[in-house]
Amino acid sequence: AALRVHAAARAKFIGAALATGPLANESAYRGLAAAEFNQVTAENAMKWDATEPSQGQFTFGGADAVVSFATQNNQQVHGHTLVWHNQTPGWVQGLGASAMRAALQNHISQVVGRYAANPAVVSWDVVNEVFDDNGTLRTSFWYNTLGQSYIADAFRAARAADPDARLCINDYNTEGINAKSTALYNLVRSLRQDGVPVDCVGFQSHLAIQYGFPSQLQQNLQRFADLGVQVRITELDVRMVMPRDAGKDATQAAYYRDVVNACLAVTACAGITIWGFTDKYSWVPDTFSGQGAALIYNDSYQAKPAYTAVHDALAGG
Ligand code: G3I
Repeated sequence: AALRVHAAARAKFIGAALATGPLANESAYRGLAAAEFNQVTAENAMKWDATEPSQGQFTFGGADAVVSFATQNNQQVHGHTLVWHNQTPGWVQGLGASAMRAALQNHISQVVGRYAANPAVVSWDVVNEVFDDNGTLRTSFWYNTLGQSYIADAFRAARAADPDARLCINDYNTEGINAKSTALYNLVRSLRQDGVPVDCVGFQSHLAIQYGFPSQLQQNLQRFADLGVQVRITELDVRMVMPRDAGKDATQAAYYRDVVNACLAVTACAGITIWGFTDKYSWVPDTFSGQGAALIYNDSYQAKPAYTAVHDALAGG
């Protein structure tokens, strides 16, 4: 059976990030996206540059296309992402403190508010990648203009816009136990002590076989769960140095299996989203020259060993 059937039987979601171009233009893409996954994330269409390119001018064409596809296919939508330092227009970055704070609140209120009554849209990445790898807060334009308070403000604005949505903080290189994940842990604990509505922590999980599997993934998920938050794998992919070969495919498949099993072993882990599904459409080759093949289908939509690994782990094999 499809991945989504096995995931549902384990009370987990299995998701994919969707790109609006192939969603509109390729039936093979639509077919697999609908058949295999029960949750979707817009890869780009809900980001600030897509939804509010000029101040106060909201454009929801791509976001609505993803939500309507999900609704047609009985899938949940995870909103990504309200506050980030990338893909945010220059007009935001140039604002002074009080205007920037107002823009953040209006953006969250409009974007979250649009889908608040829509039962498909269940959760949001409220802030994304607020840390540097050494565990200090990233000195983004948000931090430089507003200080750390923008994080709590963003969560409070999202809660006000949709009291029922699950609100997440999301980051990368936080899968294992390390300085960055410990800083994230301390921030989540302190925000919740202050009554800030952080419900969920997302672990992106952009892995690479040449760098090894994150150490103590399951224990790391569990320590966050013990704070009382939901955890989830939000952007899983496993890249390799090209070209592919059978050995690399097998290592990649083992990484996918081990991520799925870590989530299955943690009751508070809600599910796993893969950052795409076909190697035909992946951010990896554009960002890491000479690397790729990070997803579970090849660029002709054929299932790879990684697909079988995810399938068999979800099926309890
Ligand atoms: O839409 C424009 C198009 O009009 C233009 O012709 C073309 C030329 O480069 O660019 C298109 O925009 C690209 C956009 O993806 C849509 O394809 C941007 O250049 C490109 O930078 C952008 O990349 C996205 C990246 O975030 C940007 O930060 C990737 O698709 C997306 O997968 C990636 O996703 C992020 C998560 O949001 C957060 N975590 C890390 C993850 C990977 O970087």
